[in-house]
Amino acid sequence: MKVSQLAKNAVNAATLLPEATASGNVRVLSSLLGPSYRGLILQKGKNESETVLPVGYKTIFDWTYERGRIPKMQQLYEMAKTSQWNASKDVDWSIEVDPLDEKRPIVPDEIIPAGSMDTWKTMSEKEKAAFRHAFLSWIFSQFLHGEQGALFATAQVTTAVPWVDGKLFGGTQVVDEARHLEAFHTYLSQKLEKVYEINDNLYVVLDALMGDSRWDFKFLGMQIMVEGLALGAFRTFHEVLKEPLLKQILDYVIRDEARHVHYGVLALEKFYKNGISEKERAEREDWAFEVSLMLRNRFIAHELYDEFFAHRMKRSEWNKAVLESEMMAYFRASMFKRIIPNLKRIGLLSDRIRRHYEKLGVLVYEQEKAAPELTHKDIMRDG
Ligand SMILES: [Fe+2]
Ligand SMILES: [Fe+2]
Repeated sequence: MKVSQLAKNAVNAATLLPEATASGNVRVLSSLLGPSYRGLILQKGKNESETVLPVGYKTIFDWTYERGRIPKMQQLYEMAKTSQWNASKDVDWSIEVDPLDEKRPIVPDEIIPAGSMDTWKTMSEKEKAAFRHAFLSWIFSQFLHGEQGALFATAQVTTAVPWVDGKLFGGTQVVDEARHLEAFHTYLSQKLEKVYEINDNLYVVLDALMGDSRWDFKFLGMQIMVEGLALGAFRTFHEVLKEPLLKQILDYVIRDEARHVHYGVLALEKFYKNGISEKERAEREDWAFEVSLMLRNRFIAHELYDEFFAHRMKRSEWNKAVLESEMMAYFRASMFKRIIPNLKRIGLLSDRIRRHYEKLGVLVYEQEKAAPELTHKDIMRDG
């Protein structure tokens, strides 16, 4: 990458730095420095066909094969075995999709971040249709990349978790994530015919949890934070998008993701209560908060800005408009509704960290159901 591009990336990344000091935990910040450098400055994952990421963590064999240490995890494994579906056979791929349909758009204007901007009104119907198509492709491309991250993280978790029940369930999740990758990729490549590269900030989160040597950070990052976000986002898009095939895929995926978050809560609940010191617990709490901020503030779709709006408005105007858009508010609400109750349940919502979440206005969700109590009906009913 050219020096001028690196400098430009550094300037763009610098606008995000003030929030990176929010928790004030130096250990946490230093652990996120490498992933941030690779994601935001070097833009790893972009302009290359593969990214090599060395990972260092311990794999653990459980020779006791002791079953039932966490009985609910055993039940979850049973449930996973009978809930498998086949992405190539059970989904009706014969449904035709026209992502450029101007009369019946798949994406309603209310949820398009640009939909509330003055510039939107000046665009032709053809331009709007092209943007809707790009927006849908961008969002689902990020889901696709997140699924690849989930596939790898789950493979890591399966080898790193100390108990055999955790390994058995982990095995089912690996298959689930492979299926999600397959379904989203088929939709993007065959129906939308457009795939975007990974967003820099999503890369940072995936890099951070893949590269961490501690097994529970992988659970915390993937099963609680990213899957929590995914569950909220999938439910939001299931409700608002007007396209039956995508709804069908999301319905299947949501059922799987709900099990995955549940698994993360079961694994961490006990471990955080008895297996770590107060200092270690606080570090996890701060890390989860930093990741919350990343997930909350950084999916600003600069890729779409560069493609469609760079000649119409400043980047800062775009950032403001997107962050204040109705869609973003809805997305944040559905994401924190799934994350906060689970953080509370696993013991990462102490009085010390609460004031930070309070500033974000997300403590209202702490009374919501945590993953072990949450049914599919709950998720589909209230997001
Ligand atoms: Fe998934
Ligand atoms: Fe998942």
